[in-house]
Amino acid sequence: MASIVHREHIQLSGLLQQHLPFARAECQALPDEPALRLFLLNHDFPQHTLTAEQMDAVLNYPAYWAFCWASGQVLARLLREQPDRVRGRRVLDFGSGSGVAGIAAALQGATEVVACDIDPDALAATAANAELNEVSIELRDCFETCEGHFDTILVADVLYDRDNLPWLDRLADRAEQVLVADSRIRDFAHPRYQKLGEWQSNTLPDLDESPEFRRVSIYAS
Ligand SMILES: C[S@@+](CC[C@H](N)C(=O)[O-])C[C@H]1O[C@@H](n2cnc3c(N)ncnc32)[C@H](O)[C@@H]1O
Repeated sequence: MASIVHREHIQLSGLLQQHLPFARAECQALPDEPALRLFLLNHDFPQHTLTAEQMDAVLNYPAYWAFCWASGQVLARLLREQPDRVRGRRVLDFGSGSGVAGIAAALQGATEVVACDIDPDALAATAANAELNEVSIELRDCFETCEGHFDTILVADVLYDRDNLPWLDRLADRAEQVLVADSRIRDFAHPRYQKLGEWQSNTLPDLDESPEFRRVSIYAS
């Protein structure tokens, strides 16, 4: 295990450093789900003291995969509390980023997990994090290649881009159940989805976002 951690750590740090020479990937346990560990941006990354040039580098390369978003953490908690939503099921993690939702599903006994992300670096992170958590996850770089029927589709913090709203119908057509965790859209009203509740969490490493982005709602189709 130690050599795996070392190898993946170097690979992901290399991806970050192509754009952010001062960043590195660091293995971190999730505060809300300590059994789940992820390679994330180093916790002491100098977010508040970035120069204009460093800030440009961050904005030009939004390494979403190097954070565990609040919705991902909340969804992982829901799956631990309600494992029947994924146990024995074929699951898709749509917009996997670090892979947090798919890994949580695998840890709760999903029979097959597929992770889909349009960012190749996110797929590398998902693969590394799956290995770190000793679970198996298949990788897909677009939804069109996610073949077959899914029992459950997980969507955590993907609606930050409003262009992704049409995915709500497309995904609901492909699975018995879609679970959408979101902290960005407050006026979520869709005839095919019902709100299950609200939970508090934050992005890891903490981006010090406003309280409204720490409130995560989960919706089920
Ligand atoms: C904010 S991150 C959330 C990552 C993870 N689900 C979490 O909760 O930590 C959103 C991710 O969705 C991916 N994404 C955005 N639009 C997508 C699309 N149309 N298809 C697949 N992935 C997408 C991005 O590349 C990014 O990795």
